Amino acid sequence: MIVLGIESSCDDTAAAVVVDGREIRSNVASSQAELHAKYGGIVPELASRSHVQQIVPIVRAALSTADVSLQDVDAIAVTSGPGLAGSLIVGLNMAKGLAAASGKPLIGVNHLQGHAYAGWLYQSGDAAAPTAPEEMCGFPLLCLVVSGGHTDLALLKSHGEFERVGRTRDDAAGEAFDKAARLMGLGYPGGPVIQKIAETGGPSDPLPRAWIRGTWDFSFSGLKTAVLHRARAEGIYPAPEGGPDQDAVAALARSFQEAVADVIATKTARAAEEFGVQGIVIGGGVAANSALREALQDRSSVPVMSPPPALCTDNGAMIAAAAYHYLKRGESSGLDLDVTPGLTIEEAPSAPAASVI
Ligand code: KG4
Ligand code: ZN
Repeated sequence: MIVLGIESSCDDTAAAVVVDGREIRSNVASSQAELHAKYGGIVPELASRSHVQQIVPIVRAALSTADVSLQDVDAIAVTSGPGLAGSLIVGLNMAKGLAAASGKPLIGVNHLQGHAYAGWLYQSGDAAAPTAPEEMCGFPLLCLVVSGGHTDLALLKSHGEFERVGRTRDDAAGEAFDKAARLMGLGYPGGPVIQKIAETGGPSDPLPRAWIRGTWDFSFSGLKTAVLHRARAEGIYPAPEGGPDQDAVAALARSFQEAVADVIATKTARAAEEFGVQGIVIGGGVAANSALREALQDRSSVPVMSPPPALCTDNGAMIAAAAYHYLKRGESSGLDLDVTPGLTIEEAPSAPAASVI
């Protein structure tokens, strides 16, 4: 089954064509990072206007790169939440228009579930399809979704059936990276720049970790405050004339990254043991972080399935991959589907409905 996946929940306009929830025929995206960089974070109004400009060419490019027409696809999948309302609406209306015009089913997808399903994807043309996570390890799997807006630990009990066991109580991991980068004058998005400069840093001086023992929850706001105090003490923030000393920035970036990676990897590995899962699937922008990936591989006693970094950040392929399981069960959304900015990882995007065409 061929699914066109559309994603516009945040600051990337993306579309992809995926076969049977796994094989990527095309995966194209237009990033708005440059547009938002000077503000140090996403400006929702600018994001939705940019999606309006990009959505048609991106969807066209996804279809033409995959060498398929709209008539060839079996369904049109789109992120309906969580995310920025004004951004989600652009992708959803595009998908509705395509579904109405083609008569193909519309499938609303939970963005966080999409991040988990990135672990099933592989590039068309790869020598052989890698073994799917549930074939390798069986259900339930433990999913770690760490993005700019969320930090969730969830059990995937069977396809599409998520149960959240842990979440952040304040900032998301990606948000912490972005805020820390801002304090260090490193720009937006913070994750990739912190990772890069941290590689040049000397031995790190540990920052405090919030373990929130007895739960699988996370907290990163205390760490952010600790970064602020240290940035002040080291003359990094406010930035002095001529910019802060780059060795001091690299050392702080490294200490920060180690603290985040340590807490997430340790708790995720322990949760895997506690819940008796045989495998861990990771996704979301922060899952691209090499320190986190290494820490989790080191600490976990079960296999960790990590999508390539490019599939960790927002993309259309993961949306098509998650939608495949709805399609397989014969479920689709109605054309009255609305955006749900606050959707949690356990929730279905909407009650499955018969097509209203
Ligand atoms: O999943 P994503 O692309 O968008 C959301 O759904 O939020 O995640 C974006 C977040 C940003 O906060 C960004 O700083 C972070 O992922 N990120 C990283 C890395 N690449 C992106 N964080 C740490 N290390 C990275 N290499
Ligand atoms: Zn995301």
